[in-house]
Amino acid sequence: MTTDRLGNPLSCTAAAVPGLEAAIAKLHAYQADPIADIDAVIAAHPDCVMAHAFRAAAIATALDAAFAAELQASLGKAVALAPRGNAREQGHIAAARALADGDIEGAAEGWGRVAIAWPRDLLAVQLAQVCDFFLGYSHMLRDRVARVLPHWQPGMPGYGFLLGMQAFGLEESGDYARAEAAGRQAVVLNPQDGWGAHAVAHVLEMTGRAEEGVGYLRATSAGWAPGSMFAYHNWWHLALFHLDRGEMTEVLRLFDENVSGGGFGQALELVDGAALLWRLHAMGAEVGDRWSSVARGWRQRTADGIYAFNDVHAMAAFVATGDTAAQAEQLATLERAAAQGRGTNAMMAREVGLPAARGLIAFGQGDHAGAIAHLLPLRGKANRFGGSHAQRDLLSWTLVEAALRAGDGPMAEALVAERLAQKPASPVNLAWARRAGTAAKAAA
Ligand SMILES: [Fe+2]
Repeated sequence: MTTDRLGNPLSCTAAAVPGLEAAIAKLHAYQADPIADIDAVIAAHPDCVMAHAFRAAAIATALDAAFAAELQASLGKAVALAPRGNAREQGHIAAARALADGDIEGAAEGWGRVAIAWPRDLLAVQLAQVCDFFLGYSHMLRDRVARVLPHWQPGMPGYGFLLGMQAFGLEESGDYARAEAAGRQAVVLNPQDGWGAHAVAHVLEMTGRAEEGVGYLRATSAGWAPGSMFAYHNWWHLALFHLDRGEMTEVLRLFDENVSGGGFGQALELVDGAALLWRLHAMGAEVGDRWSSVARGWRQRTADGIYAFNDVHAMAAFVATGDTAAQAEQLATLERAAAQGRGTNAMMAREVGLPAARGLIAFGQGDHAGAIAHLLPLRGKANRFGGSHAQRDLLSWTLVEAALRAGDGPMAEALVAERLAQKPASPVNLAWARRAGTAAKAAA
C-alpha cells in the first residue's frame, strides 16, 4: 500500500506522492500556488484520487462564488474517482462536497472524522480547522488539534504547521500565553509559516500589544510574505496595530501596497479591505477613493448568499460608499438566505448577518440609536457567523462610534470599558474613553 511520509494511506502510485505532498505543504504554509502544483500532479497521474480531493477542497475553502464553476468541475472529477479511492480519500471528498453544498458544519465534522481516524492527516486537521474558523467555533479550533497531538512528535514532517494550527486555536480560546509560545515556535521551525505568524499576530492583537505586533510582523515578514497567498491578511493585522497607535499614514500605505496587493480578486481579500476601511470610515477618517476597488469587487457578489460573514463586509462597503441600490440587493440576499438558504449560512444570516447589516445601514443613515439597537445584541452571539475575535471587533468598533455619535454617554462608557478591560493601554480605546467621558458629562 502506498502511504505518504506520515503513514497516511493513498490509493495512487508512489510516484505521485512527492508532488502531492509538496502541494499540500504549500497549502499548510499558504504559499502559492498549491493549485498549480496539484495540476502538475494530476497531469502526470490523472487518476490520483487524493490529488483531486485536495484540489476540490482547496477551492471550496475560498467560500467564493467567483470560483463556483471551477469548484464544481474539480469536485465532479473527485466524486467520479471516489469509488477507486480508500476510506480516507472518500472522507476528504465527502467533506469537500459538503462545503461546496454550503454545509460548513458537515464539512468540519467530515474532515474532523478523517482526522480522528488518521490523526497524522495534517490536511484533514487543517481543513476541519478552517471550517471551525468559518463557523466561529473558538474551542473547536483548539480541540481539533488537541485530538491529534498525542499522535505527533517534534521532528515529524509538518509538525511546525500543527503547532501553528494549535496556536491559533489556543488564541481564539483565550489561552494567550500557550498560543504565543506555540505560534512563535512554529515560525522558528518554518519561517514561511504564515499561519503560525498569524496566530502570534492574533495574540498580540487581543492582548493590546500593538508595538510588539508591529515589530513581530515586520521582523518575520521576509519569511512568510514572499510567494504567500495569505500575506494580505497578515498585512491587515499589521495595519490594525498601526491603527491602534493612530499611525494613519502607515495604515493607508499598508492598504495601498499590501492589503490591496492581490487586486481583491477573492472574497477573503475583500473582507480585509472592507474591514480596514470601515474602521477608518466609522472613525470619520478620510480614505480618499480607496473604497472603489473594494466596493467593485463586492458588487460582483451581491447575490451570492454563500456566507453571511462576507455579506456583512460587502454591506460595509456599500454603506460607506452610499450605494443604496447595492445595500438593498445585499440585504435582500441576506433575507433570502435567512428564509430559505442552504446549510449553515441560513442560521448565520438569520442570527447575525441580517441584524449586523441593518446596523451598518442605520449607522450610514445617521440613525445611531437604530444602529445600537441592531448591533448591541450581537455582542454575545456574533461568533455564530464565524471569523475571528479580531475580525468581529468591527461590530464593537461600530457600536462605540454609534454610541458616541448618539450622545449616549453611559452606553459609550460601558462599551469602552469592555475594550479597556482587554486593552488598557490602547491609544484608540483611551481616545474613545475621553470622548465617552465628555458625552457622559454632557448628558448628566
Ligand atoms: Fe486574522
